[in-house]
Amino acid sequence: MLGRLGDTAITFDELDSDLFIGINEIKLCACGTSYHAALASSYLFERYAKVRTSVEIASEFRYKEPLMAPDTLFIVISQSGETADTLETLKMAKEAGLKTVTICNVDNSSMVRMADATILTRAGIEKGVASTKAFATQMAVLWMLSLHIASERKTLAQSEIARHMAALREVPSAVKVEDELHERLKRLSKRYLHGHGFFFIGRDVFFPLALEGALKLKEISYLHAEGYPSGEMKHGPIALADPGLFTIALMPENMLYDKTKSNVEELSARDSTICSISPKPFNLADDFIPVGERSHYMLEFFEMMVVVQLLSMEVAIRLGNDVDMPRNLAKSVTVE
Ligand code: M6R
Repeated sequence: MLGRLGDTAITFDELDSDLFIGINEIKLCACGTSYHAALASSYLFERYAKVRTSVEIASEFRYKEPLMAPDTLFIVISQSGETADTLETLKMAKEAGLKTVTICNVDNSSMVRMADATILTRAGIEKGVASTKAFATQMAVLWMLSLHIASERKTLAQSEIARHMAALREVPSAVKVEDELHERLKRLSKRYLHGHGFFFIGRDVFFPLALEGALKLKEISYLHAEGYPSGEMKHGPIALADPGLFTIALMPENMLYDKTKSNVEELSARDSTICSISPKPFNLADDFIPVGERSHYMLEFFEMMVVVQLLSMEVAIRLGNDVDMPRNLAKSVTVE
């Protein structure tokens, strides 16, 4: 955020002022965790900047013979800047004459060299295979970018932008998990080492966060986990609910709390084991992980992000796994 989040405005010195001129759509393209950041930010781009936004998994986009209109801003997101599938989509977008932006953690990487403009996430070197701080910084950049575009397009009142900027300043404290909470996660983790699977569920931006929580858990614990939009459970997945199915419910106070709650109640009625992550106690939960009361749902997002990362880590440690170098995975996927 340094140098970008000012007193009265969000600025990206690395972007030309005419970058957004003539743009009617944003297309975000990425893989893995970066794809989850893309999906989460698509809610913010539409909600704040009022730009039609689509999200693509790079390995799918490559071969679908996509239509690429010149009024689309093509944004790739990548920690490494070397992921083969994402790099190829960037090449395709350039060849189609689209304006391109890379959101990346590694300066001078292939994607940074290829895109018209780059926003560096400045997470520092990320060694662990499971992406964590890269995801956090991608989300911070994407939230700021959605507000920056909203300001350029005048789709949000200045007072609203100021409210978001105040929330952004609280992100560092939201991601600082207190020892007491970490201890609680460590103790709880012993109850989540068996069972036949995990459902991480959430609504709105908490759906991509649910996908990300499930990905973290499966990468380092090797347990089966899936992320779902809370409202989708009744369309099939709820058939799996029983005490051996662990539901990790993301229940933020500031985003569709009652809707999510009623979805979790349905799972509870089918006897799924429920672990709720929320600032509000939930009496049907078997386990409750309390997070802070926040003024903005994105602050709840950032705190819950760290909570699901730490929960995965504690489960994986108890199972005796190497959390930095999990099996079968590489940090940078430079082959198809
Ligand atoms: O370097 P990238 O962000 O392009 O990498 C994309 C994925 O390979 C990466 O996010 C992967 O899913 C991580 N292991 C997730 O923790």
